[in-house]
Amino acid sequence: MQSRLELPSLMVIFGGTGDLTHRKLMPSLYNLFYQNLLPDSFAIVSVGRRDFNDEEYRNQVRESVERYTRFKVEEAVWEKMREKIYYIRFNFDDDSGYDSLKAMLENLDKRYNTLGNRLYYLAVSPEYFEVIVNKLDRHAMALNESSIRRIVIEKPFGKDLESAEYLNERITRVFKEENTYRIDHYLGKEMIQNIMVMRFANSVFEHLWNNKYIDNIQISSTETVGVENRGGYYETSGALKDMIQNHMLQLLALTAMEPPINLDTESIRDEKVKVLRSLQPVTGEFVKENMVRGQYGRGEIGIHQVNAYREDERVSPESDVETFVAMKLYIENYRWAGVPFYIRSGKRMANKTTEIVIQFKSLPKILYTKDEDLLPNLLVIKVQPKEGVMFQFNTKRPGTGNDIIPVQMDFCQNCMAENNSPEAYERLIHDFIKGDTTLFTRWDEVDFSWRYVEEILRIWREEETDLRSYPSGSWGPEEAHRLLEKEGRKWWLV
Ligand SMILES: NC(=O)c1ccc[n+]([C@@H]2O[C@H](COP(=O)([O-])OP(=O)(O)OC[C@H]3O[C@@H](n4cnc5c(N)ncnc54)[C@H](OP(=O)(O)O)[C@@H]3O)[C@@H](O)[C@H]2O)c1
Repeated sequence: MQSRLELPSLMVIFGGTGDLTHRKLMPSLYNLFYQNLLPDSFAIVSVGRRDFNDEEYRNQVRESVERYTRFKVEEAVWEKMREKIYYIRFNFDDDSGYDSLKAMLENLDKRYNTLGNRLYYLAVSPEYFEVIVNKLDRHAMALNESSIRRIVIEKPFGKDLESAEYLNERITRVFKEENTYRIDHYLGKEMIQNIMVMRFANSVFEHLWNNKYIDNIQISSTETVGVENRGGYYETSGALKDMIQNHMLQLLALTAMEPPINLDTESIRDEKVKVLRSLQPVTGEFVKENMVRGQYGRGEIGIHQVNAYREDERVSPESDVETFVAMKLYIENYRWAGVPFYIRSGKRMANKTTEIVIQFKSLPKILYTKDEDLLPNLLVIKVQPKEGVMFQFNTKRPGTGNDIIPVQMDFCQNCMAENNSPEAYERLIHDFIKGDTTLFTRWDEVDFSWRYVEEILRIWREEETDLRSYPSGSWGPEEAHRLLEKEGRKWWLV
């Protein structure tokens, strides 16, 4: 159970009028107020460019909370939150704005007894990360001997290794690693946290979690949406940087890591990093044999005809940016030697799903030789939109015959109305205030994953790797299926 937080603090949200704040941060803060989890001494200050007074801003927040909260809006709870929200308007480049903000925060410290503790949340586009950190430093708002100063950096953390290294140096020079919280909101999702519990709290799974019993592991994250209005950003990114570098490698690390020596933050992160360090090296041969890059063409999503990626108005008609990646890789350590990990992520796919499928090895076909259809045991960890765990096993079909059929034990966590799972941001904000960095990425994790995808990008560039087209609404390019079929396997859709 989450416990009530005790750190008296002021949370400052840069980008307080933006989409992220309205859709995720404020509704999550409301949910924390609703559950009475926030500290008694707490208030929120939002920074934006639009011209609002506190009341106008609060009314906007109320609308967003009503729209996106998972709990009903109760007047008493909203009133408690409402009176703790403040708004200040200035341009992030403007020094005088920081003077005003500083004075405002010092006044609020007196009103709320928040002891100078500051929780800065940068819900802004990456070009402002450095600007804001520098200004906070220059205005003596970043460090204070006698109080706590932390910062959350939204994704993306850099657009390549060089920019990530630069950004990291600029931020940690001011805030230090232990006070820097790099968001990967996938880590806040219920089932991601559940991977460790599933593995390390159930003897039936952990004892089989190795190359002796597992045939392959598939990690998929697919979306039905295209790039929507993010075409401009996506042209500088692509699926490899947007999904594989962060979310997918994090899922891989959690699935494959060794048991940490205990549950403290650094022990868990140490084990995740070891997985990243054990990834099979990227070579030209590896990329050619084991990777497929694709881009969506026209097609149908449900009953709607949709355009190709290149037809988006913010996208070049000749763009060769990938909206889909599939790959096979090995983790070169004792536990996983010889077990292929298949990863895929794509936009405009047939279905929206994020899941991890563990396919166990088949038994020798000695007793049940006739059963062509004998399916392997599968353990499926469903991350979103359905959250839960499914286990598939074989059983006898009831009746006089000896037929075997696969059946599924399916635990759906978010199907139960009373078990309404928290939004990832709710958990992450809670941990941020608590000072728990476990669900945020440490610099060496970011560093390794950037090095890994940069090598792939370099080879793609130098060897002009083919870009495969796939129809919107499909399961990606044919080549992604062949990646498994040539080894007698297939992508599971469960
Ligand atoms: N939206 C999401 O669901 C989502 C999900 C994951 C990560 N993220 C990340 O979160 C960050 C914010 O995304 P967003 O979608 O919320 O962006 P957004 O809707 O464009 O909001 C940007 C915010 O920054 C403010 N701003 C921009 N330039 C400013 C300036 N020069 N001075 C002062 N304020 C300025 C805007 O204020 P005004 O509007 O008042 O001008 C607005 O509050 C990005 O790094 C994004 O990658 C977003």
